[in-house]
Amino acid sequence: MVSHVPNPLDLEHAGAIPTTGLTALQGVDDALHLKDGENVIIHGASGGVGSLAIQFAKLRGARVLATASSAAGMEFVTELGADMAADGRHGDIIAAAKTFASDGIDAVLALVGGDSLERCLDTVRPGGRLAYPNGIEPEPKKRRSIDAVPYDATPGVKQFERLGRAVEAARLKVPIAGVYALADATKAHERLAAGGVLGKIVLRVR
Ligand SMILES: NC(=O)c1ccc[n+]([C@@H]2O[C@H](COP(=O)([O-])OP(=O)(O)OC[C@H]3O[C@@H](n4cnc5c(N)ncnc54)[C@H](OP(=O)(O)O)[C@@H]3O)[C@@H](O)[C@H]2O)c1
Repeated sequence: MVSHVPNPLDLEHAGAIPTTGLTALQGVDDALHLKDGENVIIHGASGGVGSLAIQFAKLRGARVLATASSAAGMEFVTELGADMAADGRHGDIIAAAKTFASDGIDAVLALVGGDSLERCLDTVRPGGRLAYPNGIEPEPKKRRSIDAVPYDATPGVKQFERLGRAVEAARLKVPIAGVYALADATKAHERLAAGGVLGKIVLRVR
């Protein structure tokens, strides 16, 4: 499938977002239906999908509490527009969410699973929503009071056109943590495996 490079991105930045951008936008719009003024936690917001999801959630008028796994990650998500940042690995997410939204969180976009996600879900108001792309591990436990929507990013010409419009409207920042030649793909994987990558790693084919 082919798509125009959205303004104002260059090829390198556009090349970084087809999968992550669709996953972020479809999570915000199609799975969560985020609305103006809603309080959302984006959990695992410092990675490829989350760094874009913060910006799409802000585009829809939501208030964003973004979690990251380090001080550098918290600074990074704040620079991308999060209203508040919390350390989802070492910090107290429940206290942060209570400060952020005293009546409870409306929605969670989960890009990381496990105990830390369960703590995020403890802060969701009854009738709130959870969306997560298939692949996060472990999958969240079902809860009666929360409407959970697992989803897969769906590519297609129309979807890319919609992504392009959202990229332009949000003046999307595409954070690239590193660029590697295809021949150095092993090094790129090693860097990813080490953790702490803020944004996306790109392979240059030629
Ligand atoms: N089904 C689909 O269509 C689809 C499409 C795209 C992605 N996905 C899935 O979506 C998930 C996210 O993808 P991604 O590309 O955004 O991954 P990613 O780049 O690895 O992002 C995850 C981020 O979460 C951070 N993190 C880890 N533990 C955390 C914690 N306890 N609290 C707060 N932050 C934490 C990580 O930081 P550290 O590096 O410091 O740990 C990382 O920055 C993956 O599971 C992927 O498989 C599915």
